[in-house]
Amino acid sequence: MSEEKKISIHGQWSSRWSFILAATGSAVGLGNIWKFPYITGEYGGGAFVIVYLFCVALIGIPIMMAEVMLGRRGRQSPINTMRTLAKEEGRHGIWSWIGWMGVLAGFLILSYYAVIAGWALAYVFRVGSGMIQASDSAGVQAIFSELVSDPEKLLAWHTLFMALTMVVVARGVKQGLEKAVRLLMPLLLILLLVLVGYAMNTGHFNDAIDFLFKPDFSKLTAGAILTAMGHAFFTLSLGMGAIMIYGSYLPANASIAQTSIIISVADTLVALLAGLAIFPVVFSFPDLTPGAGPGLIFQTLPLAFANMPGGLIFGTLFFILIVVAAWTSSISLIEPAVAWLIENRGMTRVSAAVWSGLATWLVGIATVLSFSHWAFDFNFLGTVKHNGVFDILDILTANIMLPLGGLFIAVFAGWMMKQKHSKEELALNHSYRLWWFLIRYVAPVLVLVIILNLFGLI
Ligand code: TRP
Repeated sequence: MSEEKKISIHGQWSSRWSFILAATGSAVGLGNIWKFPYITGEYGGGAFVIVYLFCVALIGIPIMMAEVMLGRRGRQSPINTMRTLAKEEGRHGIWSWIGWMGVLAGFLILSYYAVIAGWALAYVFRVGSGMIQASDSAGVQAIFSELVSDPEKLLAWHTLFMALTMVVVARGVKQGLEKAVRLLMPLLLILLLVLVGYAMNTGHFNDAIDFLFKPDFSKLTAGAILTAMGHAFFTLSLGMGAIMIYGSYLPANASIAQTSIIISVADTLVALLAGLAIFPVVFSFPDLTPGAGPGLIFQTLPLAFANMPGGLIFGTLFFILIVVAAWTSSISLIEPAVAWLIENRGMTRVSAAVWSGLATWLVGIATVLSFSHWAFDFNFLGTVKHNGVFDILDILTANIMLPLGGLFIAVFAGWMMKQKHSKEELALNHSYRLWWFLIRYVAPVLVLVIILNLFGLI
């Protein structure tokens, strides 16, 4: 049956491992190293982390399997995949809107993601030049605020990062990317372990463990729960078709359950390690606070490096790896749009990449300005946010669009698709029933309850 299945016009991964690496490359990114620590800090630690872990297990993994499955069955961009599958199942064409919303979400996420990746790029040079080596914590904070309050600098780094992204996308996801991920992801893991080793000796490692794993459920606001769930989607690259399109390049005989679990576990590990590397440093400097916001890792990690033997080299390497991690994620944010432009507008891959990249770059300017001229404060369900448009884009995409996309994916896979089809695609024995239960009831109900809770409806 599966042997007759056609291959996507965009190509196919050379093996199951290439898919795992590419999807892990998509999942592991700024979400793990930059976002997870700072939102955990903002929402008070332990209880937030536990909700996030539950969401990964109960919502994330089953939806990842659904996305890979739909992608591999449809073998096209998410928009066309959903249209084809809806037709195959005798359902309304409106299901292709999952793809449209995904394209929009990916585009909006990349517009700010590239700006933050630009910060990391700037830090490669700041750390590498020794500028940070000589600084104390006040100095490190000054270097950060000087960078983000200068829109011209941010624009330059944003432009450079977008160019890097579009070069890879233009060459096709397979070329170059597979190799880069294979080499650099293990290196990132090793360096994270080195940093955790350093953090263990700061004298505040136990404080960090307590902060990350001792839940104080009184801190669990509706905003915290929603953000934890949104982050589970964000960090696993779910809910917008990124994993779906990577799944569309997956060889027919690879196990979807096994690959999805490997990707999710690896992603979660990297996030927890990042937390264990960062919070001990935060707690050893009285003028740093866990709730520092998006600047958190840029104000803490350089301090750890400044105080560590070989810190100049490790520090530079570490920021290079953050850039690489962001790079392998950003291409997956735009790939669904590019694939659609190729399929439906007859564009070449290069011009599809150029046009979608230019549009994203332009929208990114709103984020560039969010840390200076356009900065404003607002209250998001009890948490004060300081960076105007950037925070709004982040909340809109991660906390609303991705969970909604995931909800519709779960409903389609669990309720609209014939059981025979999902069974055939997943090729599981007894564990199929577990997935079936999670995708039909647990995942959609949890997403709905959390969203409705937000509006005070439950
Ligand atoms: N998961 C990536 C990170 O944690 C970001 C990302 C890549 C993403 N592709 C995505 C987020 C698709 C949502 C949807 O940095």
